[in-house]
Amino acid sequence: MDPASITPNRLFTDLAYLWPVMSPPEEYAEEAECWRILLREKFAPGRPHVLELGVGGGHNLSHLTEEVDATAVDISTEMLRHSISLNPGVKHLVGDMRRVRLGRNYHAVLIHDAISCMTTPRDLAAVFTTAAAHLKSGGLLLASPDYFAETLTLPRTECQTHTRGDIELTYVEYTYDPDPSDTMIEVIFTYFIRSGDSLQIEHDRIQAGVFPKPTWRRLMQTAGFDYSERTFHLRHWEYPYTILVGTLR
Ligand SMILES: C[S@@+](CC[C@H](N)C(=O)[O-])C[C@H]1O[C@@H](n2cnc3c(N)ncnc32)[C@H](O)[C@@H]1O
Repeated sequence: MDPASITPNRLFTDLAYLWPVMSPPEEYAEEAECWRILLREKFAPGRPHVLELGVGGGHNLSHLTEEVDATAVDISTEMLRHSISLNPGVKHLVGDMRRVRLGRNYHAVLIHDAISCMTTPRDLAAVFTTAAAHLKSGGLLLASPDYFAETLTLPRTECQTHTRGDIELTYVEYTYDPDPSDTMIEVIFTYFIRSGDSLQIEHDRIQAGVFPKPTWRRLMQTAGFDYSERTFHLRHWEYPYTILVGTLR
């Protein structure tokens, strides 16, 4: 099978109903605590206005909504539907994080793992420009890439089974680099979806960006941010969990 023949991004479109099965909101508690620490350091005891770009199912955000006043953007209406039901107090909008302009400023812009959907330096630069356009001087940008070029070794495979409600999902995930001369990698998924007596098998393909730390630093600085990194150690995580921190000059 030619990977190019697999329809991409099904996990965020027609198969988005699998997202809470594959990556349940409860599993984000420890990760979200790191975001809470950084937000509290800067804004406590206030309740900052935050904009999350690429909110997806809003799973990470769901652990922060008690402390922030949030607006959330995603390019996928199917993923937004999850976040709307999980985070009813959040304002949700459809938009592309590379070009959306909401015409207002926030205290902080959050971009969780969705930042890894940017596969080229040009797209990454556009997202940082979007972030800067929604902050005042001193405003905070937090982003947590899934991958850094310095620590990623490929190919990588993973297989897990998760059950939620009447769906049992087993997925095999194969991550590889189709072209080491560029910044894009690809994750090929096979989903085995059991519900009642039926077994459905689906394929998916998601592209992601991998950049070295100096590229993250340079692009954030070019967009007007002072750059720093905060690293946390999470249980069950292979790598240290790094959140990139930009402060708008
Ligand atoms: C892995 S999911 C995010 C999951 C999220 N962190 C959560 O806690 O549920 C990545 C999301 O990025 C969104 N996305 C990808 N490209 C985007 C773009 N250009 N603009 C806005 N959202 C985008 C996808 O639609 C998807 O919902």
